Parts: sequence; structure tokens; C-alpha cells
Amino acid sequence: MRIAKISERIAYIGVNDRRTALFENNWPIPYGVSYNSYIIKDQKNVLIDTVEYGSDGEFLSKIATTLNGAALDYLVVNHMEPDHSGMLLSVLAKYPAVKIIGNAKTFELLQKYYGISQENFFLVTDGYELNIGSSVLKFVCVPWVHWPETMVTLDLKESVLFSCDAFGGYGSLDGGIFDSDYNFEEMFLPEMRRYYSNIVSKYNQMVTRAIGKLSGVPVKIIAPSHGVIWKENPAKVIGLYSDWAASKAEEGVVIVYASMYGNTANLADQIGSKLSEQGIKNIRTYDVSRTHVSYILSDIMRYNGFILGTCAYNTYMHPMMEHLCNEIRIMSPKGKTTGIFGTSGWNGAGVKALTQFAEEAKLNVISPVVEALGAPTPEKVEASLQEFAVAFAKAIKNNM
Ligand code: FEO
Repeated sequence: MRIAKISERIAYIGVNDRRTALFENNWPIPYGVSYNSYIIKDQKNVLIDTVEYGSDGEFLSKIATTLNGAALDYLVVNHMEPDHSGMLLSVLAKYPAVKIIGNAKTFELLQKYYGISQENFFLVTDGYELNIGSSVLKFVCVPWVHWPETMVTLDLKESVLFSCDAFGGYGSLDGGIFDSDYNFEEMFLPEMRRYYSNIVSKYNQMVTRAIGKLSGVPVKIIAPSHGVIWKENPAKVIGLYSDWAASKAEEGVVIVYASMYGNTANLADQIGSKLSEQGIKNIRTYDVSRTHVSYILSDIMRYNGFILGTCAYNTYMHPMMEHLCNEIRIMSPKGKTTGIFGTSGWNGAGVKALTQFAEEAKLNVISPVVEALGAPTPEKVEASLQEFAVAFAKAIKNNM
């Protein structure tokens, strides 16, 4: 049973989940994920969020061990999504007098999901301050980071920000719990970026707004509900989230293709070679039928250009490319330079569908579209490839 000390008053009682294959039954988590939960011990004892139901058979024991016979007075629900509220009913069954702290939207959702009685509710509004003895907890609403009810909690005595999904990432806590315990760039940065692109990036504007709202608040420790706790360098994760929310990107290109018999894959490689000749050094090419969109979206967020290619399929684009396009539409990446290519047997339907998608998604598409009927031989594509590569490389070099 891992109970770790954050300070004399604050304990970590979270859990690693390496059993779930797909987070939200959608996103691969080969390095697992942590559900972080905390207890503040004071004159009033406070549990900050719970963990996903069934992820930790020892969760209630951790609470009891940490409290050491004292009462549990409050349970703060920063975010109602069941990866954090899943053990709420179990906590309530063991501590029936506990007051559940949330805002009006939290309780609306809690009643819908769990049918909890209003007797247990302790309603707070944005900016509400609760005296718990030696400290005061302040609740700040940050809607849509990541659901409408989301809020964060500040322990004003120790300047600890319990931020729930914000400043979190995929990846279990395989050693310590703090940023200083890890080689962050190697062990967590790629998974944090992928988490942001998959889960949070749709809400970029809300993230920027939330960071602005918290900018005047002194924060010494950021304790999110997924991933490492930022004690040594909380400014680093604020900087990362600020940059991602502002769509800051590195110079580079992601080439993604859907290919049935290799012609579109061949064209993707030709495009990569031409861009390399133009001096582009960060080029990553994916077969969308092979690599989960989770990873592709992460690199689309990371770099300032992406190029989509498809074969024609049932008079449309390939269904795996259609899936990616739908995710791009949801993610709505800003400031990217885009290209389109493809092959077909007779009518170019795939490229037509990609072009229509790009128009509807208001993507900045560089001309010309590179297209071939049948095999993409040099006599069919060389001229358009060269023209496209020069224009695309120039665009992403200027788009920094
Ligand atoms: Fe980690 Fe939006 O829940």
C-alpha cells in the first residue's frame, strides 16, 4: 500500500492503473495512468477526489490509515468524471457524515450519475473559501478543463494547487511521485503531450482562460489527478500547458496516409523525400491503419505542418483516414500548414473527399494537391511533387 507524504499535512493516496488498455475506452495507455487522490489532515480532514472504481482495492484502507482514527469531514469533487469520482459511493458508505464539496454543476452531475442525496452536499461557488483549521481551502471554477463542472482547489497555507485533469498526463508513477523523482523529458513528456492532445486540446481556449485566472495565485506545488506532482518546478508544467493551449508548435511535418495496395504509401515516401531535400528535418510518416490516432494527433499538435493522403475507397476516402479526419475536426488544431495527396483507380474520390474535409475544417492547404491514377510514377507526379514540396517547406519555415 503506497501512501506518500507531500507535506506534514498532505498525503498522496493515489493508484496506478496498468490494467486498462484504453483510457476512456478510446486512447491506448501502454505506460498506464495514475489516478491521484489526496488527504489534507487538519482540524477538518479533507479528501481531494477519489480514484476509478475497482482500480485499487486498498483505497478505503489508505484513507483509514491516513486518518488514523480521525473523522473524514469533507470530500472535494474537483471533477465528476468517474476516473476521479468512481469511489465516491464507497467513501460515502464508510463515512456517511462526510460533506461532499462541489459546485452547482457538480451536484447536478452527481445526482444524474449516482443519485446522491442533497443532505451530503456542501455547495461552493467560484472563489469560495473554507476554513479547515490551520488553513483555508479556496475553490476556483475552471469550466471545461475538462467537463463543465470542473474546478480546482487551493490549500492557501502551503500554496498547493489540486488541479485534477489540468497539468496531468498519461503514465503511471513507477518510482516516486514528484517531478524531481524522474527524468521527465524521457519518462513523462511524450505521454503528457499525447494526453493533452487527446483529452484536453479541444478545450484550448478554456485552458488559457483557466491559467490566466490562476496567474495571480501563488502556487508552490501542483498536485494533478493524473501523473507527477510538481514540487520542484511547477512553472515548467504551467509553461507546457500554456504553450500547448496557445498552439505553439515546432517546425516539422506529420505525413499520414491510408493505403490499400501500397500506391498511396509510395507517394507518402516520395513526399517525405522531397521535403527532406527542402531541408525539413522533423518528418514523421504514419500509416493510419497501423498507428492509433492517439499518437498521430499528438504529433500533429507537436509540429506545425501535417499532410494527409488517402486512396479512394467506395467513392470516398479510406475509412481509417475518415476516422482521423473526424478526430482532427474535434481537436480543431490551429495555425497548421496542411497538404493533401492520394491515389485512385479511376475517379479521384478519396482526394475529393479530403479536399472537402479540409475546406470544411478551414485548414490552410498548400497547393498543388499531389494525385495519381494508379501507380504514382515519376512522369505522373514529379512536377506536382516538386512544386508542392517547395511551397510546403517554405510555408512551415515561415510559420514559426
Ligand atoms: Fe481524468 Fe476528465 O477525467
